[in-house]
Amino acid sequence: MKINVITGDITRVEAGAVVVGLFEGAKKPQDDTAALDKALGGAVSRLINQGEIRGKPGEVTAIHSLGRIPAARVVIVGLGKREEFTLDKVRGAVAEGCRFLQKKKVEDVGVAALGAERLNITPESSAQAATEGALLGTYSFRRHITEKEDEPGRINKLSLMSADKTGMALLKRGVKRGRALAEAAVLARDMVNEPANYMTPSSMADVANKLAREYSLEVSILEKKDMQKLGMGALLGVAQGSCQPPKFIIVNYKGKAARGVDLALVGKGITFDSGGISIKPSHNMEEMKGDMAGGAAVMAAISAIARLGLALNVAAIVPAVENLPGGSALKPGDVLTAITGKTIEVISTDAEGRMILADALGYASKLKARHIVDVATLTGACEIALGKVCTGVFTSNQELADQIIAAGAETGELMWQMPMYDDYKEQNKSDIADIKNVGGREAGATTAALFLAEFVGKTPWLHLDIAGTSMTDKESRYLTRGATGVPVRTLVSLADKIAHRKQRH
Ligand code: BES
Ligand code: ZN
Ligand code: ZN
Repeated sequence: MKINVITGDITRVEAGAVVVGLFEGAKKPQDDTAALDKALGGAVSRLINQGEIRGKPGEVTAIHSLGRIPAARVVIVGLGKREEFTLDKVRGAVAEGCRFLQKKKVEDVGVAALGAERLNITPESSAQAATEGALLGTYSFRRHITEKEDEPGRINKLSLMSADKTGMALLKRGVKRGRALAEAAVLARDMVNEPANYMTPSSMADVANKLAREYSLEVSILEKKDMQKLGMGALLGVAQGSCQPPKFIIVNYKGKAARGVDLALVGKGITFDSGGISIKPSHNMEEMKGDMAGGAAVMAAISAIARLGLALNVAAIVPAVENLPGGSALKPGDVLTAITGKTIEVISTDAEGRMILADALGYASKLKARHIVDVATLTGACEIALGKVCTGVFTSNQELADQIIAAGAETGELMWQMPMYDDYKEQNKSDIADIKNVGGREAGATTAALFLAEFVGKTPWLHLDIAGTSMTDKESRYLTRGATGVPVRTLVSLADKIAHRKQRH
């Protein structure tokens, strides 16, 4: 999709459709919507008066112009209540409008500056949000569909309206940033939607190498023998039931001259989670191809950070492993020794994420990174607690928590902080090893996070549990069925905040 910025009169735009907004409860159209209403002889006003157009979020109304203006259609998207308007409403409205037009096989679309009259929303950020909405909302994963019959249409050209010529450069900057963020989220979605026979640990390493070439990143892939040397017994224990060789992926981005890693992003890369010997029920097991969503997210995030040239040093670390119950598989009751020397009693081989992360977090803390953020589809318990609406945030570093929650509010990837009281640690105590990998049914997301904390050391660290948010079964706003790409855009925004804080100090 080509996205450009144009200026001029919206009633003269030549396109398959022009998209304009309407606030909920507005008695009459305003700005560009009003101009188009006039050109269409009051058609929009009439539909508002008849109660057909109400301006509710998600509402899309198309009016055929039948030659009264150069654009073939006027599409009015609901923006919700004026006082509740946010950038996320722009993303959602543009996504719904574009998806509607894509289904109608419209190829070129003009979009009005939505909500630009609201003081707290700059035209630049509105253009960024519109770009994200258009690219994310029209996403589909059809790589393995050979039948071309019901192919969705393709919007080839999207033109964003700028109020005047002087603002065009800013809008273009917004488009550039929006594209970098949305394309990174799309990369993560593609990796997660890819079946596990295509997205193996080796394929994840291939993606890392490809990203490294594209964005001049440094990459190293540790093989089984390297991991053995480093003492990654927990990761290797999980890997031993599968024929797929494990890969430990490290991608480095240097955005400033000073040495050291400002931010280590660690992502769970279980390319398929059968549960291992503690095998999962077969119902919905296919969804476990997405158990590498954390790994995909950190790889995608570092590529966007590089593309935007943010001024900080970042490392993305992905332990990539398949969890299967082969003849040499790990068994409940086994004891593993992680990279830090800590021993783990395996209660369930299905609590494998925390074991591969034990080694990855131990490795990251040895890098002396200034911050560590890990992302994992870690626990069903987190999905039960928070549903599919928000990602669980676990940390004892309140500054990092505040930063990521603020970043999530901007990107629309909602975050909610969960408890990390020491009192829960009792549940992870083992009789025969330093710690056990299951802390019981109660507070399962917190005991998993407290398990991870044991391998981090003193580095400021935050854990995101995306078990509920990494996939969706409903098409809504800028999310389509399947992978969501959460929390790629938030990670980039967090990196941006860290980079700016560093410069100020
Ligand atoms: N990958 C799963 C968690 C998960 C569940 C992700 C649902 C996405 C959707 C994880 O490895 C797992 O199996 N966790 C167990 C832990 C339990 C054995 C302590 C769980 O949540 O049931
Ligand atoms: Zn599992
Ligand atoms: Zn898992």
